[in-house]
Parts: sequence; structure tokens; C-alpha cells
Amino acid sequence: MKKRVAILISGRGSNMRALIEAAKAKDFPAGIVLVLSNVPNAGGLDFARRHGIETEVIEHKKFPSREIFDNAMDVALNRANAEIVCLAGFMRLLSPRFVEKWRGRMINIHPSLLPAYKGLHTHSRAIEAGEKFAGCTVHFVTAELDDGPTILQAKVPVLPGDTEDALSARVLEQEHKIYPQALRLVAEGKAKI
Ligand code: GAR
Repeated sequence: MKKRVAILISGRGSNMRALIEAAKAKDFPAGIVLVLSNVPNAGGLDFARRHGIETEVIEHKKFPSREIFDNAMDVALNRANAEIVCLAGFMRLLSPRFVEKWRGRMINIHPSLLPAYKGLHTHSRAIEAGEKFAGCTVHFVTAELDDGPTILQAKVPVLPGDTEDALSARVLEQEHKIYPQALRLVAEGKAKI
């Protein structure tokens, strides 16, 4: 049985797209059953709809607190019978209770070689610091931001004269490779907390 996966997005959803494409393969151990966005016009929503995947928008702004917003997401995830949650450019902090509930079943992709460069603007910070390498990490989500056990990482060189855009494109190409691979490992029970 394929594991039922929900993807949480806030924007263009290119990692979401990579997961949806990968999950089309017969032998992929997971299927995408829901794409949930906290932003109504997130670019990724259209792609998901066109691929016949159920989408739902839950606008964080409409909720009085983080906990209540997270609870609404939890209800949607349970309604879809989601077993694994993939954060794919989901730009909201999550409450400890929600994180704890999905512990070991929620994964995230971050555009740096964690534990280096948690947070935002990872590429410009890496360039400014004169790093020779940058990359991306898929990890289990724990209470601390951009923390939690690593599942897979990919490394790319930082090239002379790199701009933020050039580096982020180089890293993104790797994100699209390792996220489906990491989801496979989790769905097969080969990576766990
Ligand atoms: C990706 O680069 C992802 O790694 C990053 O946001 C981008 C979303 O792009 N995530 C984070 O920074 C999370 N801390 P996408 O919407 O095209 O997948």
C-alpha cells in the first residue's frame, strides 16, 4: 500500500511538483493525496489541481493564533488520512504541539547544508561568507526551526561570481532530486527517527 502524503506549500511549489512527478511512478511507495497552502494564490496550487490532486487553502491570517491555525491544518490532514507530511517551501513556523503530533512523519527541505544557515536568505549569506560549497537538506521536523535528523543532503559548489539567483538555481536542481529520494526512504520505513 502506498503511503498517503500531504504536501504543505506557501509559494511556487517546485519541490511539490518534483514530489508529484516522482509519485506517479508505479513503484514509488507514496501517493500525494492533498496539497495544502496557507497562501490562497500560491503558484503550486494550479499544478496540483491540474494533476487531479485535492487542494485546500487554509489562510493563517484568518486564525487568531498559531495553535488554532495549526489545528485547522491537522483537521484537514486527518480528513485526508495523511500518513506523511512534506513541507515544501511552507513558510510558517509550526507550534510545538503540531510538530510533536507529526513527529517522525513530517519532513522538510531546506536550502542549505544544515546545521549551517538555518532560516532565510541562505544563499546570499553563504556567498557573503565565502563558502566553497552550498546545498540542501531534507530532514525530519522537530520543534526547533530547520533542525531535526537529516535524511539526505546534496552539495554543490559555490562558483566565483555567483549571484543569489545562480546559486539558488543550482541548489534547487538538487532539491528536486533529493526530496523524492528522501520521501521514498521515509515511506519505505528506511529512514526514521
Ligand atoms: C525551496 O528552495 C525550499 O528549500 C525553501 O523554499 C524554497 C521553496 O521553493 N524552503 C525553505 O527555505 C524552508 N526553510 P518551491 O516552492 O519552488 O519548492
